[in-house]
Amino acid sequence: MTTRLIVLAAGKGTRMKSAMPKVLHRLAGKPLLGHVLDTGLQLNPASITVVIGHGADQVQSTIEQPVKWALQSEQLGTGHAVREGLDGIEDSDTVLITYGDVPLTRASTYQALLDACDEQTIGLLTLMMDDPTGYGRILREGGAIVGVVEQKDATPDQLGITEVNAGVVAIKGGSLRDLLSRIDNNNAQGEFYLTDIHELAVKDGLRVQAVHPQDEWEVDGVNSRVQLARLERLHQQHLAEELMNNGVTVADPARIDIRGTLKTGTDVTIDVNCVFEGDCVIGNNVKIGQNCLISGSVIADGSTILANCVLENAEVGSDATVGPFARLRPGTRTESGIRIGNFVETKNTHVGEGSKINHLSYVGDSTLGRNVNVGAGTITCNYDGVNKHQTIIGDNAFIGSNSALVAPVTISEGATVGAGSTITRNVPADRLSLTRARQTDIENWSRPIKNK
Ligand code: UD1
Ligand code: CA
Repeated sequence: MTTRLIVLAAGKGTRMKSAMPKVLHRLAGKPLLGHVLDTGLQLNPASITVVIGHGADQVQSTIEQPVKWALQSEQLGTGHAVREGLDGIEDSDTVLITYGDVPLTRASTYQALLDACDEQTIGLLTLMMDDPTGYGRILREGGAIVGVVEQKDATPDQLGITEVNAGVVAIKGGSLRDLLSRIDNNNAQGEFYLTDIHELAVKDGLRVQAVHPQDEWEVDGVNSRVQLARLERLHQQHLAEELMNNGVTVADPARIDIRGTLKTGTDVTIDVNCVFEGDCVIGNNVKIGQNCLISGSVIADGSTILANCVLENAEVGSDATVGPFARLRPGTRTESGIRIGNFVETKNTHVGEGSKINHLSYVGDSTLGRNVNVGAGTITCNYDGVNKHQTIIGDNAFIGSNSALVAPVTISEGATVGAGSTITRNVPADRLSLTRARQTDIENWSRPIKNK
């Protein structure tokens, strides 16, 4: 069986009040359409066609998943949109049609629809809703589905129906092409409704089989920023619960945001207001303090990230302490037992086992050996205005406070750099090197006095 997907994403999303097409608005850091595509890809379809219209260029340049694009230059309705996406679809293919603004439908729900579909049967996602306002209503006779009526076309009696059309359909390519050629736009909105295919199909002797989602939120669409924010919180709540079920203490599941993937060990503790982006991996017994942004980073077992840290593409070794207020920029890699303290920025730097950069320093393009101590206010001067240069600091070296290490430069093992030095040449091992002027104490000097 060949499965193909058609995803509708040509609408403007007027109620978003945005210059950006609705399907590019982000949920958990990923465009709404990206969610649909990632779930669709789990079905291993032969192709995914995305029908675009409003902001087509923007959609094409933002979406990274491998899809075929179809242009619907005028938005004449969902039925018309699917017709624009039929290119390359064979009669025998099973076609799954989804909407780009309904991001959280499970792959298992899509699969159940595909399983329900055969030559005689259309699979249609429906569910009972306490408040069905806005959705198409499912019409049944003697228990069997005989059609779908849109809210705006429904009679008062039909408006009382609580079984709604979630919008996802599985149908054979041949039936789809045939039925779509026969729908019209004689309705309240003057649109070609995809939903009109069902009545025609039943008249042709086909069957429409209802499939239900496991959870109601799977069919929640996004039409406004308020709905988007609600769905975001709901989704984050589920992600937080998943973490907790995997052995993570989440201080407040309402104050965590996962905008990517987060793999965790056991007995991890995450305090409030932490945001995780990209792919992050956190080992056992890691503690993360308040207000941290962890992006594309790995934190090994037993480490503590104190409050207000920003980690971006960093790797923190085991039993390390970082922060509060530390910024680990891309390419920061540390071994175990290190300490990076407050107001320290690191970039493209390897920090050896047990080394400490405790306060107010910038360390970039550097390699630190073991048990190095970098004093407060140390700057690696890695940039000459054109090129970046390396600073190498050997094991057990001690850099006195407020030193400038002008790269390229090597501080050898066991060296001590006196506080306030500007180091422009390599420092030999096991010496005290300093460049500051000697202190002078001037006798018989008196402070100026104000004349009254
Ligand atoms: C649609 C269904 C309705 C269902 C609801 C579920 C139809 C006629 N109605 O209504 O029965 O209950 O979804 O959420 O299908 N689109 C295009 N081109 C168009 C029109 C729409 O690509 O010409 C896309 C939109 O971008 C959107 C999707 O199709 O992603 C659904 O369109 P929308 O206008 O939101 O349909 P609803 O009124 O929500
Ligand atoms: Ca909609």
